[in-house]
Amino acid sequence: MNNTLSKQVAIITGAASGLGLAMAKKMSESGIQLALIDRYTEGLSQIREEIRTEFEFYPIDITDEPAVKKTIEKIAQHFGRIDILVNCAGITGITNIKSHEVDTENLVKVFNVNFMGSWFTSKYTLPVMLKNNYGRILHFASIAGKEGNAGMLAYSSSKAAVIGMTKVQGKEYAETGITVNAIAPAVIKTALVDKMPEEQVKYMTDKIPMKRCGTLDELVNMACFIVSPENSFTTGFVFDLSGGRATY
Ligand SMILES: NC(=O)c1ccc[n+]([C@@H]2O[C@H](COP(=O)([O-])OP(=O)(O)OC[C@H]3O[C@@H](n4cnc5c(N)ncnc54)[C@H](O)[C@@H]3O)[C@@H](O)[C@H]2O)c1
Repeated sequence: MNNTLSKQVAIITGAASGLGLAMAKKMSESGIQLALIDRYTEGLSQIREEIRTEFEFYPIDITDEPAVKKTIEKIAQHFGRIDILVNCAGITGITNIKSHEVDTENLVKVFNVNFMGSWFTSKYTLPVMLKNNYGRILHFASIAGKEGNAGMLAYSSSKAAVIGMTKVQGKEYAETGITVNAIAPAVIKTALVDKMPEEQVKYMTDKIPMKRCGTLDELVNMACFIVSPENSFTTGFVFDLSGGRATY
């Protein structure tokens, strides 16, 4: 099969803002056709301005399993293939609180978006990729999932679950031509970070040995390599993007 980038089709969730939008923009520069998913439809105008290639926008909530299933079927039918899945949609939920103060409903909501949503999209995309014996799946984890950020029980645990899923899926599809990896950034200034309490953001940035936040360029360069055909012998791995915070 031809894995030339310009013939590839990528799904990006969370594409209407922050890291997902930056990924969409960068991938469109390589001519990759894009199926963009987000529940934030107001972000569509920015997508229209920034994307240079053929794309379709699917305004769904990734926690809605039947909607995810139907959307992936529509994408496979429209584009004829799916080569890349980037699971960028995510939320922090309420932060800067201790475990005994965590509201159960809020924790479940965070797990539903960060873990279940990424599982649903991979569950319905994998059979399409298996038909071609080729695929690149990238789940967005976080340094919080590796280390556990105090004040962020729901977020840290949901991202640890994403890391667990990455390791499982990497092994399960290792002989198929499909790789499944995760990326674990520290802090990169986006709407997600802007919405968090200042004290919580200070806690996270103070822990970065390089004493600065990551940039969108640093993120997209690493992430685009992870989903490229060149990244063919690494699967089930969590790529670090934490300015030295993760030493493992
Ligand atoms: N920015 C950081 O510092 C940082 C660090 C580590 C990990 N991450 C992870 O990177 C990913 C992207 O974060 P970001 O900073 O770009 O955030 P962001 O808030 O800028 O963008 C997230 C996007 O996901 C969408 N989304 C949220 N819930 C959704 C749902 N249920 N269905 C469909 N779309 C949904 C939002 O509408 C938004 O457009 C997240 O998974 C986040 O946890 C970010």
